[in-house]
Amino acid sequence: MPNEMIELTKRQAWKDLDSHFRNIRASSLRRLFADDPSRGERMAVQAEGIYFDYSKHLITGETIKLLIRLADESHIRDRIDAMFSGEKINVTEKRAVLHVALRAPKGKSIRVDGKNVVPEVHAVLDKMADFANRVRSGSWKGYTGKPIRNVINIGIGGSDLGPVMAYEALRHYSKRDMTFRFVSNVDGTDFAEATQDLSPEETLFIISSKTFTTLETMTNAHTAREWTLRSLKQDSAVAKHFVAVSTNEKEVAKFGIDTANMFGFWDWVGGRYSMDSAIGLSTMIAIGPEHFRSMLDGFHKMDEHFRTAPFERNLPVIMGLLGIWYNNFFGAQTAAVLPYEQYLKRFPAYLQQLTMESNGKHVTREGKAVDYQTGPIYWGEPGTNGQHSFYQLIHQGTKLIPCDFIAFLKPLNQLGRHHDLLIANVFAQSEALAFGKTPEEVKAEGTPDWLIPHRTFEGNRPSTTILIESLTPEALGKLVALYEHSVFTQGAIWDIDSFDQWGVELGKALAVRIIPELEKEPSAGLQHDSSTNTLIRKYIGSRK
Ligand code: F6P
Repeated sequence: MPNEMIELTKRQAWKDLDSHFRNIRASSLRRLFADDPSRGERMAVQAEGIYFDYSKHLITGETIKLLIRLADESHIRDRIDAMFSGEKINVTEKRAVLHVALRAPKGKSIRVDGKNVVPEVHAVLDKMADFANRVRSGSWKGYTGKPIRNVINIGIGGSDLGPVMAYEALRHYSKRDMTFRFVSNVDGTDFAEATQDLSPEETLFIISSKTFTTLETMTNAHTAREWTLRSLKQDSAVAKHFVAVSTNEKEVAKFGIDTANMFGFWDWVGGRYSMDSAIGLSTMIAIGPEHFRSMLDGFHKMDEHFRTAPFERNLPVIMGLLGIWYNNFFGAQTAAVLPYEQYLKRFPAYLQQLTMESNGKHVTREGKAVDYQTGPIYWGEPGTNGQHSFYQLIHQGTKLIPCDFIAFLKPLNQLGRHHDLLIANVFAQSEALAFGKTPEEVKAEGTPDWLIPHRTFEGNRPSTTILIESLTPEALGKLVALYEHSVFTQGAIWDIDSFDQWGVELGKALAVRIIPELEKEPSAGLQHDSSTNTLIRKYIGSRK
């Protein structure tokens, strides 16, 4: 940590942004666009195949200058270098943060504790590719000699959301004669529904867990083993129907999975940053090793862009700074991610873990309580469905919600007019949000006076439009890395540890205490608060 780091709200750029905010608040997007006819072209960056239009934000050139000064005063460049060079920037867990090494090309050198980790990354990728090819070609056989037709990934959090998002996003490229499912919830319904129409003889389970101790995943894994052995009878069938992705060889062996069928990763890969590690094994089986490598290539290109591009043309930096602007100056509580692409239907859910588990923190890296807001709530749905649901609030509600619209120029499924209609809707939404409709305009349409306020749109609601040529594996890699590094930029400015997740621990520990109280009649009296005690008694009572 640089010694000269000044507290966030005492940095000069922060103070200047604070006064600048007062001027901007009085301005409007109508005026900003009218004053500068080339704003729409000027306030956009084209980089790495992504067109990033940020002109419909409540900003001027001065805002961007000040935000970049804030990035400089927050030593973002040093922080980026520290991450890429393997420094232990996850300070509370004393770990390096090197998801960028997962997509580094062969021949690069990234060192952790003096050891180049890139060769190990490629050794695991090669092992995954060999296994994926065997499953895809049918040469990997189940216990009774039948090829595998169904793959079920069992994992939760980063060991589920990345794989399921990537599978859905890249389904167009997937092997269509195979079925891919994802079980995460400890709710038995998840497992029951995922398996009810499948044959154990043709089903492969990938148990994905960094720690291999997560309650939900281990419960589902044991249920999967019972489900398999109920049909296949012999313990030796496990080796043919179970593989593991983990950092914990000991626990994998204890579960009964042959560690030859284990795909490793490392403690410097955070769960929510792991979809391009062996945690992506289900993705690789679905789309094949070549497509998987091209996804990694996309990640790497965005990594290099983030590492080297000047901040005024650096997509993740600009995206991160705009987030700070709304979160910390406008007081926006949430941010919406609105992909106009059905294949990205799980992208908002994936981003929720990436953004909120990373930046939902209340103390600085040194442990001091922050006196400013940190990570906003991320949410979203694919367009156009959201338009007929919650967009009303974005357009006319009392809350400011910055939106990311994500769209692809070329559709993967060309069906009549569908794509033109889809894209017309994205453009219309950002236009409507930005410029609204004045009472005069509403009146001129012949609207009776009493109805005018209801039909008026204030406008001035900010959005970014992200346009990409088409949804390829490479494009997905770039898009995910864009958000990863934007989260990094924000966390670095807020001076928090974006790579730990202590906030999930208390609930886990309390559940461990309550489980035996539900499973056997507690011998001593319940020792919780009166609400929790009553809830537990009600549940126990319901079983009598
Ligand atoms: O509970 C949160 C968490 O630790 C996430 O950070 C992680 O992605 C998830 O649980 C799953 O952990 P594991 O891969 O170790 O099962």
